[in-house]
Amino acid sequence: MAGDGIGREVVPAAIRCLDLAAARHGFGLAWTEYDWGSDHYRRHGAMMPPDGLDRLHAHDAIFLGAVGAPDIPDTETLWGLLIPIRRRFSQYVNLRPVRTLPGAPSPVRGADTMDLVIVRENVEGEYSEVGGRIYRGEPAEAAIQEAVFTRAGITRVAAFAAELAAGRRGLVTSVTKSNGIVHTMPFWDEVVEQTLAGRPGVRLEKILVDAMAAKLVLAPTAFDVIVASNLFGDILSDLAGAIAGSIGVAPSANLNPERDHPSMFEPVHGSAPDIAGQGVANPVGQMWAGAMMLDHLGEPAAAADVVAAFEAVLAAGVRTPDLGGTAGTEEFTDAVARHLGEAPAQR
Ligand code: NAD
Ligand code: IPM
Ligand code: MN
Repeated sequence: MAGDGIGREVVPAAIRCLDLAAARHGFGLAWTEYDWGSDHYRRHGAMMPPDGLDRLHAHDAIFLGAVGAPDIPDTETLWGLLIPIRRRFSQYVNLRPVRTLPGAPSPVRGADTMDLVIVRENVEGEYSEVGGRIYRGEPAEAAIQEAVFTRAGITRVAAFAAELAAGRRGLVTSVTKSNGIVHTMPFWDEVVEQTLAGRPGVRLEKILVDAMAAKLVLAPTAFDVIVASNLFGDILSDLAGAIAGSIGVAPSANLNPERDHPSMFEPVHGSAPDIAGQGVANPVGQMWAGAMMLDHLGEPAAAADVVAAFEAVLAAGVRTPDLGGTAGTEEFTDAVARHLGEAPAQR
């Protein structure tokens, strides 16, 4: 699903590269394309057909660009496609690796060796449907939405972060605002501590989100695995992406770790209406999300080839404007495709 805006530019670019990597490794990807998104909404009044989720469920994985259009409320577009997929398929881990890429200049001093992963809780927390209502026209007009943090929901995402850290540098940084959000976030702290207690090779560090925003900029190499609630994980992932040079390079995997439902792979960024249609979008986040999908599908060698290919192109100085370069999406993608063995004459 390319979706909206630059999704329609970066998804075809990434699919081209994923197909090349698959061919090199002797397998094929059987794509089903769904033209769901804001155009579908304009025509049918819904982002996807009524049986959309059932149709998606028949697949091994979902590859999404982005959704969101300036003329349609985000509550319609996001809650009509993206959020229902994450929830129905219990994609409770949103995995967002961020690292400094060769040839991608960081606006931040000392970020050259940043290598971290954000594990964002993806189905509950601040993004809850409980109690959501605008009390219009009442004497005390107000809007109220409850945050929901369950023991099971915190435990499973914390356990995922711990297992990930055990295979990396062993540090889990849990980010909350437990000094100010006094009912839900002290509970998050408590459950994360209990989940990580006694795990060999894993250290837990707790930090408040305001301090974290500063420390991420001042010391981006101080982190390994960051575990955070839905909203904080969302905000920190754009920040970390920008420290890597551009949010255009940041990938995201919405994982259902039990694999009883399909997982979904998409970039961190949105539909970027300000640059859509100009052919300048950075396709790296989408390509990297595609590599994460290949990995998830059991093809780590092909996944590594895709990452190596866009890294080689960046290292050679071919960059889109968000990274200070002059290449368009197509020129960048052509270069990646050549690295993956596509002959120039093929297109
Ligand atoms: P955005 O991520 O779309 O764009 C933010 C800024 O980053 C823009 O200046 C944009 O040009 C730039 N940018 C983003 N991706 C880029 C890329 N690949 N290459 C170069 N520059 C890039 O965020 P926004 O403007 O706040 O949101 C636009 C729409 O997208 C909204 O409707 C929002 O709700 C939606 N959105 C959707 C998703 C999703 O589908 N997963 C994620 C985020 C935002
Ligand atoms: C993301 C996006 C979404 C989120 C929005 C569009 C609802 O920002 O995937 O990072 O907050 O989850
Ligand atoms: Mn976001």
